[in-house]
Amino acid sequence: MAIRFSCILQVIHIKEYKGFAKQTMNTYATVVLAAGKGTRMRSTLSKLLHPLAGQPLLSHVLKSVEAIPSTSVFAPWRESVATQRPIVVLGHEAEQILSAFGERCQYAMQHEQLGTGHAVLAAQEAVDALAPLPDTVLVCYGDTPLVRSEMLASVLAEHLSQQATVTFLTADADPSSDYGRVVRDSHGDVREIVEVKRATPEQLQITEVNSGVYCFERAWLWESLHALPRNASGEYYLTDLIAVAGVQERRIATVRGSLDETLGVNNRVQLAEAEQVMRRRILERHMYAGVTIIDPASTYIDEEVSIGTDTVVLPGTMITGKTTIGSWCRIGPGTTIYQSSIGERCVIRNSALEESVLEDEVSMGPFSHCRPGAHLARGVRMGNFGEVKNSYIGAETDVHHFSYVGDATVGEHVNIGAGTITSNYNGLTKEKYHTTIGDGAFIGCDTVFVPL
Ligand code: UD1
Ligand code: CA
Repeated sequence: MAIRFSCILQVIHIKEYKGFAKQTMNTYATVVLAAGKGTRMRSTLSKLLHPLAGQPLLSHVLKSVEAIPSTSVFAPWRESVATQRPIVVLGHEAEQILSAFGERCQYAMQHEQLGTGHAVLAAQEAVDALAPLPDTVLVCYGDTPLVRSEMLASVLAEHLSQQATVTFLTADADPSSDYGRVVRDSHGDVREIVEVKRATPEQLQITEVNSGVYCFERAWLWESLHALPRNASGEYYLTDLIAVAGVQERRIATVRGSLDETLGVNNRVQLAEAEQVMRRRILERHMYAGVTIIDPASTYIDEEVSIGTDTVVLPGTMITGKTTIGSWCRIGPGTTIYQSSIGERCVIRNSALEESVLEDEVSMGPFSHCRPGAHLARGVRMGNFGEVKNSYIGAETDVHHFSYVGDATVGEHVNIGAGTITSNYNGLTKEKYHTTIGDGAFIGCDTVFVPL
């Protein structure tokens, strides 16, 4: 499989930041590691494609990386965003990731998965092809989906202001966690990062852990990675570079973040933990923006959903995919909506919608189903076990009781009587037929339309 290398690489110019305004130009490249086997997920799907709030794990990291220049710290370089692309290191299940992300990133290949240090080295050629050559390499792991752009920006800023050889993000975790432990000496200076496998019982009690976000001085990074021997686990750990920097008395800086932001997803238990944090963040974003969510614990809203102000979301509701909902709606209880567009002042109770469009002031439910291609015009009332599929229902039409409208065009101000069915499917020829009902039609109960 051909992996495309492009010359448009992620370079951000940092000319000015807080206390060191107008210093010489600094640049950085971003490398995201995504080549690991993800064995602990026990899945045939790449770990980094497992969805979190409706988006693949890796896409959350990429989103944060892409948003760095638009955070306050790097605001002056906002206009350069479009030409920046992170370098993603691929290996295991590379094709799956390539087809999911395509041109959004550029890629480097790690043909054998010999550890995180080995993975970063796989990106050397791509980083060194950058012009201008970056001074700094920002490394993130693809399996830490909660990290925010502001946090990445502050690691970069600390790295520059400290003029460190390496700067990394830490957090406090429970002693039972599986994160690498940050070992400091009696002066509080970092000596090394010790992985759980190799930690002594005393080191396992250390609560400061490595979050997996680093800034390295580029030239030192390559030189040190080339010199790094395989460790006792037979791998090249990126984390072993910290001890190397310590022995060389290089400057090692750290930024302390919160575990909520740097949770690593290695297995499905951690995936569920990350999901909970991400879901809460999304709900809070909507609540602060003017949406009432009666019961956040039973409400699930995907990352890409947008909801207008003064809409109320009732318990037991899932809103997924790229769904948009207007203002002053009541959604739920017990409602699922996928990839749909809902207008203003709609009421949807105990119902399901997929890939459907509801214009303003539609009332739906209880217990109705809009399947792909359903389009309910302004003021349609639909409820009590109605189903609509691939059909347009004109404004102010009623579809109330036990009805199925499929592959149909229904006019305005129509009354669809109870038990009305459009018999759109010819079981012999396997063809679907279209039904057309004009404006103002009154359809009596128990009517079956057999289109020809
Ligand atoms: C790693 C850190 C640990 C830290 C934790 C934070 C190392 C050795 N350990 O542990 O100190 O606390 O992350 O979440 O770095 N990958 C590759 N190629 C490889 C191996 C891994 O690209 O050969 C990628 C994986 O796809 C993953 C990332 O690197 O996205 C981290 O690897 P993983 O095996 O999950 O490391 P942890 O054991 O979590
Ligand atoms: Ca991990």
